[in-house]
Amino acid sequence: MSVEKRVLLIVSGGIAAYKSLELVRNLKNAGIAIRCILTPGGARFVTTLSLATLSEDKVYEDLFSVADQGGIGHIELSRDADLLVVAPATADIIAKMRAGIADDLATAALLATNKPVLIAPAMNVRMWVHEATQENMAILNDRGVNIIGPDEGDMACGEYGMGRMSEPDAITIAIKKLFQETNSRDTALICKSNQKLAGKKALVTSGPTHEPLDPVRYIANRSSGRQGHAIAAALAKKGADTVMISGPTNLSDPIGVTVRRVGSAVEMFEACKRELPADIVVCAAAVADWRALHPTDKKIKKDGVVPTLELTQNPDILSFLSQSISNRPRLVVGFAAETGSVVDKALDKLARKKCDWMIANDVSVGTQTFGGTKNTVHIVDQNGIENWPEMSKESIGDRLADRIANHLNTDHD
Ligand code: CTP
Repeated sequence: MSVEKRVLLIVSGGIAAYKSLELVRNLKNAGIAIRCILTPGGARFVTTLSLATLSEDKVYEDLFSVADQGGIGHIELSRDADLLVVAPATADIIAKMRAGIADDLATAALLATNKPVLIAPAMNVRMWVHEATQENMAILNDRGVNIIGPDEGDMACGEYGMGRMSEPDAITIAIKKLFQETNSRDTALICKSNQKLAGKKALVTSGPTHEPLDPVRYIANRSSGRQGHAIAAALAKKGADTVMISGPTNLSDPIGVTVRRVGSAVEMFEACKRELPADIVVCAAAVADWRALHPTDKKIKKDGVVPTLELTQNPDILSFLSQSISNRPRLVVGFAAETGSVVDKALDKLARKKCDWMIANDVSVGTQTFGGTKNTVHIVDQNGIENWPEMSKESIGDRLADRIANHLNTDHD
């Protein structure tokens, strides 16, 4: 029989707070118990009554209230939950989390918890891109806080850009996934003796990169990061000390994986270099080949002249790692996202980039490889070609982790 999971939802003060009502309803429908803390800012946007009605529980608001503390204080509120969710997470609460400030019930509960935390940032685009917020996010990410969003789109303030809170459905999926992962982590701990990659360090790149043109525009591609995330999760499950360098995605962090979030190809390159030495490298990211030579600090205005973009080549991370002299990982695996004769092109890429294995996949229109849940791949190495049937990206991750473990546990030198 499955045990009922409990979420402590913290609703802080942003216009997106209205979406948290739908999130509460979703979670109730999914059979997840929910208790809410409403910050004073949050209470300007949604009412205590609507949250209490939807969550079918009392709403907690005041750190010093006898009524709120009676029976259940901030320590117990966080102890009682399996997961703390902050949605919306404003720039202010993110900064307080980073600094360890506990000056109200929400921040005190967040500081007092030893449970997983998921935050859904929501704020104006300029607050989001501000160095202070980005630095705070990087630190929370390093501390293992799970992050969903923000999304890009029209904002309540009339601007367009990154900063919209993720949709309640997406947050619900992320919460369910975190619960599943917690369960499988328990199982994984029991199966520890089975871990064929224990003692090995794995580095995985995943997702797209965003190459800025100005503060609001960037060049991107259709990669969802799903395949790279699945590979990182599978390597971690096999006991590898796994670090994933991920471009911007909407996916939650794979359990047991240290995630470093980056934006551009150059940031991804620098982050990879910092992680060396590693035993295993899998480059699954769809790294942009080019970036703008002169990205601007100010938004490019329409002044009647259509701008010309001058591009420059990005570093090739896979080639660099395959050819590094002092620090070459024992096994370097690349992906060849191709259209047409995918295997021939992968063979050519294997030779050019000097990696050990190339995983060829077809990204032609209609294959749904980019953004989809399934993939059909061909593993190309010096021994030939191995064709795998269509399977889920998770199964490809598991099968690849097995192949890697078998390879490293056999003497090839
Ligand atoms: N790759 C990388 N750094 C880059 C470009 C690609 O690490 N700057 C890696 C990808 O992660 C992937 C492999 O190289 O593992 C092949 O990527 P792909 O986009 O298929 O090839 P490109 O090198 O971009 O070549 P082309 O666009 O000519 O096909």
